[in-house]
Order: sequence, then C-alpha cells, then structure tokens
Amino acid sequence: MNTNKMILTIEAKSQNESFARSVVGAFFSQLNPTIEQIEDLKTAVSEAVTNCIVHGYQGAQEGKIEIKCMLDFANSFIQVQIVDYGKGIDDVHQAMQPFYTTVPGEERSGMGFTVMQAFCEKVEVASGNGCTSVLLQKYIK
Ligand SMILES: Nc1ncnc2c1ncn2[C@@H]1O[C@H](COP(=O)(O)OP(=O)(O)OP(=O)(O)O)[C@@H](O)[C@H]1O
Ligand SMILES: [Mg+2]
Repeated sequence: MNTNKMILTIEAKSQNESFARSVVGAFFSQLNPTIEQIEDLKTAVSEAVTNCIVHGYQGAQEGKIEIKCMLDFANSFIQVQIVDYGKGIDDVHQAMQPFYTTVPGEERSGMGFTVMQAFCEKVEVASGNGCTSVLLQKYIK
C-alpha cells in the first residue's frame, strides 16, 4: 500500500492546539493539496483538538491527545484520528447536531462538528470505554 503514517501525542493544553493543526497541515502537504484544502483540514483538526481540551478534559490543561494521521497516495486522501481519554460523549448523535452545546454562552456556538463535516468528506465520532475518537477523512480530488 502506498501510504505514509504519523502519530503526534500532545498534552491537552490550549497552546498546543495551533501546534497540532500546523503539524497536521505540514504532513498533509505531501499530497500536494491546495492552500484552501490545507486550511480546511487545519480548521477541522483545530475544532476536534479544541473539543478534547475544552470538553474532554474540561480545561484541566492535562491529559493526553493522540493525533494519528495516514496519507493514502493511491486514493488521494488523508485520514486523521483525534483521540482523548477524557469524560466522553454520552450521546454522539445529539452532540453532532448543529448548535448543540453543553457549554452555552458566548464562547461556544455548538458548531464544531458541523464545521468538521463541512470541511471533510467523512467525520466519524465514537465514544466509550474511557476513550473518545473523531475520525476525519479529507480527499484532495
Ligand atoms: N472530545 C469530547 N469530549 C467530550 N465531549 C465532547 C467532545 N467533543 C465534543 N463534545 C460534546 O459535543 C458538544 C458539541 O461539540 P461542538 O464542537 O459541535 O460544539 P461546542 O464545542 O460546544 O461549540 P463550538 O465548537 O462551536 O465552540 C460539546 O458541547 C460537548 O458537549
Ligand atoms: Mg467544539
């Protein structure tokens, strides 16, 4: 199989969010995406990582986030799996509804998953056994 893989583990600190999105964007550039495609993926990764920090670990600034990337050169897509071991999501279907948020107020609009779906071809969320996973796939053609 013509693939390349990379795993990044970061602490759930807010200053690591921009680091993580840049690293994934740099890895994605091996597929020769457009600038817009890179920006779209970085935005989706940013939403997922922010969710781990804010919701998964509830801003505690500790806890592990794993970001597992795979480039598929034959089929021209990247797969990014973002995993945390925080509090988890009881009802994934409900969490993914537009405007649904458990932190209402000015900062959160409940649009994170909707943004991921707008910028990626595939978004799959699973939560259970102490682990929450968001799987993104972005195609370049
Ligand atoms: N990694 C996670 N761990 C636990 N709960 C999560 C996680 N990711 C999302 N959620 C839950 O899903 C809800 C919806 O997430 P979404 O990203 O769509 O909206 P938001 O984070 O509340 O607001 P926004 O992303 O617009 O700032 C969150 O309010 C939270 O309850
Ligand atoms: Mg969010």
